[in-house]
Amino acid sequence: MTDPTPRVPGGHPITGHLAFFGRDPLPFLQRAEALGGVVRFRLFVKKGFIISDPAAVRRVLVDNVANYQKLTRGYVKLRLLLGEGLVTSEGDFWLRQRRIAQPAFGRHRLAMFTTPIVRATADLVARWGDGGELEVAEAMNLLALRIAGETLLGEDVTADAATIGGSMLTVLQHFPRLVSAPVPYPERWPGAANRQFWRAVNALHAVVDAVIAERRAQPETTEDLLGLLMAARDPETGEGMSDRQLRDEALTMMLAGHETTANALAWTLSLLADHPDVQARAAAEAAAATPDDGPADLGKVPYLKQIFQEALRLYPPVWLLARYAVGEDTLAGASIPPGAYLFLSPWAIHRSPTHWPEPERFDPDRFAPDRPPPDRSVYLPFSRGRRQCIGDRFAEMEALLVLAALLKGFRFEPVAGQVLIPEPSITLRPRGGLRLRVSPR
Ligand code: HEM
Repeated sequence: MTDPTPRVPGGHPITGHLAFFGRDPLPFLQRAEALGGVVRFRLFVKKGFIISDPAAVRRVLVDNVANYQKLTRGYVKLRLLLGEGLVTSEGDFWLRQRRIAQPAFGRHRLAMFTTPIVRATADLVARWGDGGELEVAEAMNLLALRIAGETLLGEDVTADAATIGGSMLTVLQHFPRLVSAPVPYPERWPGAANRQFWRAVNALHAVVDAVIAERRAQPETTEDLLGLLMAARDPETGEGMSDRQLRDEALTMMLAGHETTANALAWTLSLLADHPDVQARAAAEAAAATPDDGPADLGKVPYLKQIFQEALRLYPPVWLLARYAVGEDTLAGASIPPGAYLFLSPWAIHRSPTHWPEPERFDPDRFAPDRPPPDRSVYLPFSRGRRQCIGDRFAEMEALLVLAALLKGFRFEPVAGQVLIPEPSITLRPRGGLRLRVSPR
């Protein structure tokens, strides 16, 4: 009997849809989404499924989550850097780590990160001074990296900022090659690029190990994320984390937290530049919410929050969630064999006319308090279920504090002739950067 599940047309007799997926994944995913809620395709001999049906999304991420693991190539390669951190680990080990780390992300804990975020943003505002035509995406990257370093590891890393920044960049640049090479090659393969990658990985490990060793020698807890993780105990067993686990988690959070937030900020500023009315309202709100002597009161910037939510809908930094089916399952009537790869794309789902009226239009009022909140299976910037982003509230707090300060200080306008193309790298970023005309208010 032929399989009734719709199949993405075309494909190479040997490699299947690999070239489409590899070369231009965003339109590929949108085309697939338009064919149905569960659509099949092929990557060499591997069966792939693109999932967008809300009930199927829920089953993969919530109801039958144990069947869908992170055993895809991307995650396997990510372990080279991140070991068994929260993003890459699985099963009981992951659960224990998540339980230990969770309290560090509680609302009252997050408040202590306000100061480093506000200080780093104030430095940027001072540096931008009279404004001009500025490279905003890179500025957001450096800002988010500094914030990640300071909130995670404390002041100590300032001296190592160049090592951390440079090494992160090397790893991020090398990573897509490791993941998408048509034939997987051993990571220890000789060659300049691989040597550079390993040098960067070792440098990052060394910086974090040194901070951990220094902290172990101090009796008191330091008020940053690493300090919280070091002091945290498994609520059930009372156990803490080993040095190796701490390193894996610290690097995981650094990587998971900085590029994502940086790109979310860049896309938000780009959308604001293109929508001056929205920007004017948000800037007035930010000014009214910010006292002369302190940061914005985040309870008083509801419209800015809507803008950020809408920016994450249109440009979700994590544009693809990949999973591996351990056992067989049925999703929206389609049978999923063991060993299949599943792809859930926030990009395609967020731009689906089935779920969002006029999906391409930027409309922060979609998230207005008098509207029903979106179904959590069709709005997935932070995923959902037990593997949902642990840093979602941290990211939102960071983004709102940064945006409020920038909007209070500056007006953002587009630069004539610049065409923004979303580039689906590890995270979704504006290809070639983002230039904006920035002028003091
Ligand atoms: C706008 C910014 C951010 C976005 C869009 C984002 C998005 C996501 C998504 C979609 C996942 C799920 C990935 C998957 O299951 O395949 C995830 C996981 C994760 N994120 Fe974020 N993230 C952001 C910021 C942060 C920040 C600031 C941190 C830490 C400080 C962080 C730490 C993590 C960790 C540790 C995980 C793995 C959680 C687990 O599996 O238990 N993220 N993030």
